[in-house]
Amino acid sequence: MQIGPHRLANHLFVAPMAGVTDRPFRQLCRRMGAGYAVSEMVTSRKDLWNSLKTSRRANHEGEQGPIAVQIAGTDAPMMAEAAAYNIARGAQIIDINMGCPAKKVCSKWAGSALMQDEPLALEIVEAVVAAAAPQGVPVTLKMRTGWCETEKNAVRIAQAAENAGVAMVTVHGRTREQGYKGAAEYTTIAAVKAALRIPVVANGDIDSPQKAKEVLALTGADAIMIGRAAQGRPWIFREIAHFLATGQELPAPTVAEASDWLVEHLLEHYSLYGSLTGMRTARKHIGWAVRDLPGGEDFRQAMNRLESCEAQIQALQQWFATLGADYERLPYLAKRESPPTMAATDNDDDDDDPKQQQE
Ligand SMILES: Cc1cc2nc3c(=O)[nH]c(=O)nc-3n(C[C@H](O)[C@H](O)[C@H](O)COP(=O)(O)O)c2cc1C
Repeated sequence: MQIGPHRLANHLFVAPMAGVTDRPFRQLCRRMGAGYAVSEMVTSRKDLWNSLKTSRRANHEGEQGPIAVQIAGTDAPMMAEAAAYNIARGAQIIDINMGCPAKKVCSKWAGSALMQDEPLALEIVEAVVAAAAPQGVPVTLKMRTGWCETEKNAVRIAQAAENAGVAMVTVHGRTREQGYKGAAEYTTIAAVKAALRIPVVANGDIDSPQKAKEVLALTGADAIMIGRAAQGRPWIFREIAHFLATGQELPAPTVAEASDWLVEHLLEHYSLYGSLTGMRTARKHIGWAVRDLPGGEDFRQAMNRLESCEAQIQALQQWFATLGADYERLPYLAKRESPPTMAATDNDDDDDDPKQQQE
């Protein structure tokens, strides 16, 4: 699997999720077998580049390459500037967000709203490619199947993007109108794959190794991208890799392994956000990690009342130690029926947050 000059470790990608896939989480997913991780989106609004949020999102310290930064916006020259700005700060791949349904982004005509205005979408793609290509930086595009059920224009936009020099297209198998409702469909993704020469990535509702195999077969895609199912279960990547390679299910991680990985993740998380914000934003990651385990909900509620990083770590270690006394491996209560739509809790105004979108 190759994006421009960058050869990837495998074809299992972690999806960009604002408020979730920050650097520590991307690094955890990479350790757990994801071959590629795209950053949370960075706004094309210059006045926000010095904000704490954007500077954290542009922080790639120690991150394994290629460094891929997603940009979102509505104005072609501003998007080109945003690409140049992020390339100067280490981005090796620029991803354009045309997949995001959040209300506030859409009212500014960014994200998936761009799919309704094909000339503007293409203008943005051309401007970003013109800014990135001279630096040898490939541009990729993330989109949905279309604006609405009767306007599924993914193939047309993807072809135009390929002709404009885009190096890879990711398609989430829902329309903008659908938000996160209903099920993702893979027929349109297969049509995009059949129409393009560049790599195509299938995304939407992949939540198990079996589903990963099925979606690869249905779409013929070059890679798959996983978002919500990796929340709290980043080991899904190694489970999928194992299943694709052997046809056998990998046993769940041991309780001790999971506890150690989560603690390492939390320490990285606190060091990026500082203790107060870090302690608060870590709650969602801890909640996701324990929610399908026996007693997980009670623990989540108690943990949400703790007010320091040290107390969080200690409680998590104790809880896992108690669980480990009864079980060697993570005893998931039930297979998740569908990926959760729990969203980021930091109220980002530009997030692709299913909760915001449903409001
Ligand atoms: C909390 C959250 C934040 C997201 N943020 C972004 C984003 O910043 N950019 C983007 O292109 N997609 C974003 N998405 C969409 C995901 O990348 C992905 O397309 C979608 O969740 C479907 O994949 P899944 O079913 O594997 O979760 C976000 C999704 C969630 C749940």
